[in-house]
Amino acid sequence: MLNIAVLISGSGTNLQALLNAQKEGRLKAGAIRLVISDRPGAYGLTRAQENGIPALTINRKDYKDSGEFDKAISEQLHTHNIHLVVLAGFLSILGETIVREYDHRMINIHPSLIPSFCGDGYYGLRVHRAALEKGVKVTGATVHYVSEVADGGQIIMQQPVFVKEDDTPESLQKRVMEEAEWVMLPKAVEQVCTAINNDKERQVENESL
Ligand code: GRF
Repeated sequence: MLNIAVLISGSGTNLQALLNAQKEGRLKAGAIRLVISDRPGAYGLTRAQENGIPALTINRKDYKDSGEFDKAISEQLHTHNIHLVVLAGFLSILGETIVREYDHRMINIHPSLIPSFCGDGYYGLRVHRAALEKGVKVTGATVHYVSEVADGGQIIMQQPVFVKEDDTPESLQKRVMEEAEWVMLPKAVEQVCTAINNDKERQVENESL
């Protein structure tokens, strides 16, 4: 059973989807052991506490530079022996040291069909506003591995959502969360944990040859 850390910045509805999956037995290959918020008071911290999961705030504003911030996060990941890091609404950009350390062990969920509407400046409602301004008929969400390029890592899973004529950024965001993000993230986490487990088993076999 792998140890999972979920990094958040806000409401934590994607974290809640993972907690629900864990409670309902749909998350078997890994267990959520730690929640870290880069902002104090994020409601996702309350969701973690309500489920008996250690919840920490590592406030980005308390660190003079991103290197020190990343180090503080990395220390907690090591302390809790974390195997998979899930960025779920996490708004800080992590530096290449920690991203490389967790190569194919760190994933992110983004509320569009990458490569559309992603990268610098595309987060939260801005993503859905851009999709409506462009007039796309289909949008959705993407789970991908984290790489040094923002939202540029290998795609793991995508889920489409049709845009409605009368959609606003708010109504579209809500439907993308309900129909894509909250459905897909638990499946993607289970899939990645299974892949990591299989990878570990192969390594043990190879070492025993
Ligand atoms: C979600 O739309 C997620 O895709 C994006 O930020 C939002 C976070 O929502 N990265 P929540 O904190 O999980 O409710």
